Amino acid sequence: MSTYYFLPTRNVFGEGSVQEAGTLAKTLNVKKILIVTDAFLAKSGMADNVAKIYQEAGIDVHIFGGAEPNPTDKNVAAGIECYREHGCNGIVSLGGGSSHDCAKGIGLVAANGGNIRDYEGVDKSSNDMIPLMAINTTAGTASEITRFCIITDTERKVKMAIVDWRVTPQISINDPELMVGMPPSLTAATGMDALTHAIEAYVSTMANPLTDAAALQAIKMITQYLPKAVANGEYMKARDNMAYAQYLAGIAFNNASLGYVHAMAHQLGGFYNLPHGVCNAILLPYVESFNLIGNLNRFRDIAEAMGEKVAGLSTDEAAVRAIAAIRRLSKQVGIPADLKSLGVKPEDFAIMAENAKKDVCQLTNPRKATKEQVIELYRQAYEGEGAL
Ligand SMILES: [Fe+2]
Repeated sequence: MSTYYFLPTRNVFGEGSVQEAGTLAKTLNVKKILIVTDAFLAKSGMADNVAKIYQEAGIDVHIFGGAEPNPTDKNVAAGIECYREHGCNGIVSLGGGSSHDCAKGIGLVAANGGNIRDYEGVDKSSNDMIPLMAINTTAGTASEITRFCIITDTERKVKMAIVDWRVTPQISINDPELMVGMPPSLTAATGMDALTHAIEAYVSTMANPLTDAAALQAIKMITQYLPKAVANGEYMKARDNMAYAQYLAGIAFNNASLGYVHAMAHQLGGFYNLPHGVCNAILLPYVESFNLIGNLNRFRDIAEAMGEKVAGLSTDEAAVRAIAAIRRLSKQVGIPADLKSLGVKPEDFAIMAENAKKDVCQLTNPRKATKEQVIELYRQAYEGEGAL
């Protein structure tokens, strides 16, 4: 089987690196860009500040602030209208995963026509993407570098997984100064999303030496720096390291893909519009407990990367320590203990399990699951069984 490796061509890091956005955009030959962002960043002044950087480089800008959390097909349609109405020929996404995914959807449909639903699945587009530059303001989704675009179909209440190499942004910017404003709860949720990416990629059936190296380093760095970033959002060393760690986790899952945590979390997002990172964090220990027998040696590595002492333990004993380490980190950063507290309804488990089994992310899970087993995992996470 062949192995592919996907990543944006140019990736910029470091405090103040956003100031280079205008110069970089000129190399994409864009004359007018649509900045796709969320309502908060559009009003907070951050979008205006970023717009100025482009304007100073001689590039016209229009700001679209319609990317909602868990962006929808309607957000994408509104963005395309805005893109065409203002005669843009490039897109900049500014924000976290919601802004990046919405921008990818806009660019994909603007370049290929039709409806965003036409692109659900793997590599469904045929035309080159609109030039896209992604500026990250959170440290978790890594959507600024990936070929994944998750858009909610509001009619079916399903988060569509659009996996297409053409939606990969041409340029990514990870400037930790833009991440300082994240409150502790968002820092925790996005950071746990990154941990989920790294763990699911490391135990994925498509893991390879490139993704392994990135995933293990990400797991180590997130364990070390996420609590610090949650404790003090102005501690730049923690912000900077989390920016790199979530990027490493992105390298891993962009190429090794994910597993049942994401397949199941997508349904919770589609049904109840819940925050992606929180859903992942709650599901993670349950799904990985289920997955343990699929690859015990890999869970032993995860335990070690998360600082567990595994010397002298059997592989079984060491692997279980990974689950304890995940639970401890979740608790440290203030993730809710169960799905019950988020308003999830047990009567929806069956349909969500059915949809999770159709989600492209479950294809690389290390253990196959029946619909009944997925329902049982939702139930355990709902009850918060075994929570510390
Ligand atoms: Fe994710």
